[in-house]
Amino acid sequence: MHHFAYRDDELYCEEVPVAHIADQVGTPFYLYSHATITRHYHVFDGAFNGLEHLTCFSVKSNSNIAVLRALAREGAGADIVSGGELLRALRAGIPADKIVFSGVGKTPADIELALQSDIFMFNVESLQELQVLSRIAGTKGKTASIAVRINPDIAADTHPYIATGMGENKFGIPMRDALHVYKIADELKHIELSGISCHIGSQLTDIHPFTKALESLQKIFRELREMGMEIRNLNLGGGLGITYDEENPPHPNEYARALKEIIEGDSITLILEPGRVIIGNAGILVTRALYTKSTSNKRFIIVDAAMNDLIRPALYNSFHAVQPVKRTLSGMIKADLVGPVCETGDFFARDRTMPPFEPGDLVALMSAGAYGFSMASNYNSRPRPAEVMVKGGQFSIIREREIPEELLKGESVPAFL
Ligand code: LLP
Repeated sequence: MHHFAYRDDELYCEEVPVAHIADQVGTPFYLYSHATITRHYHVFDGAFNGLEHLTCFSVKSNSNIAVLRALAREGAGADIVSGGELLRALRAGIPADKIVFSGVGKTPADIELALQSDIFMFNVESLQELQVLSRIAGTKGKTASIAVRINPDIAADTHPYIATGMGENKFGIPMRDALHVYKIADELKHIELSGISCHIGSQLTDIHPFTKALESLQKIFRELREMGMEIRNLNLGGGLGITYDEENPPHPNEYARALKEIIEGDSITLILEPGRVIIGNAGILVTRALYTKSTSNKRFIIVDAAMNDLIRPALYNSFHAVQPVKRTLSGMIKADLVGPVCETGDFFARDRTMPPFEPGDLVALMSAGAYGFSMASNYNSRPRPAEVMVKGGQFSIIREREIPEELLKGESVPAFL
């Protein structure tokens, strides 16, 4: 459930009319509902009550520090994949001892920063990374607490670009090598074995790949304990899907119940790294129609947001509902909703039934809170949009719209030109 709803045919975010924000801020902009963010966090985290656990919000899904602060205040930890995300998480007030660091290509600089900050845990994805981590920890006089990320070779029914737990994917260490890597890690003086982890993919709407992955991890976990390794944390990653269109993902309660059934009895602290399920439906992208035109067989509505602002339709052919900010238009048409970027892939919806938007009308692209702004770019030298958060009857700009001049920062023309 989210807090974007119509009152008298006008779209509101909590207590604020979306059109009012558009008038003040201009378009396009991302709009987040604080009540939705905190509600989703508590529904998810609360589902695991009764089990020792830590919910680490996946910062890559939305890394605005106001969003992170809102979650930090509710008790969330963070799942990060870079030094940049670490900086954001810390700046937002997420305690270092609730931060876990994943990723196949952690750079020495990022590792140093994370060690310096005393983060909770590194999810190690290769033997070479383990060795680099151990060496850097040694030179800093630190001990790195780690989980080995396992690739459980489980197929997940999602877009191939975001399935991460199959044998052919670059992530983690194959099951058959797991014990070997743990034995090596156990010998390293500056490494402390703390857990085991995996992340099998994103936008998963079926529970079975999760339970299969958990069972695989549990097997290794038990073997390690039998070998005398005192690990306690089991990190199942993120990936729980949301409803963009007609998907019917399991409710967090159902997800938690299935996981609890498997690991009850093992003394485990479960770590979860949800991103999309917390923030996906807590944000929308608001854009304004610029022009309309028709060809012999198509109608186009050209809006002022583009693939640089929200790349998911172009990259994954993903669905975002298109809704009018004011429901004043009568009749529906079939049209393509497209942006100004010079690529045919720059679309938000194709051959979709939608209101007959006219120039000036505001359009809401729904479910854009996750992997929206965090994947935005400056392609076509387009400034990235503003981000706004609503809480009750107030709204605040949590990231200013970029201006073209800022995009030139750092560029220079060499003397020989
Ligand atoms: N943990 C790890 C190690 C991950 O790689 C990810 C996402 C998550 C947690 C969070 O997954 P979530 O709960 O949000 O599904 N850009 C794509 C999604 C990429 C996901 C990458 N990894 C999209 O727009 O659909």
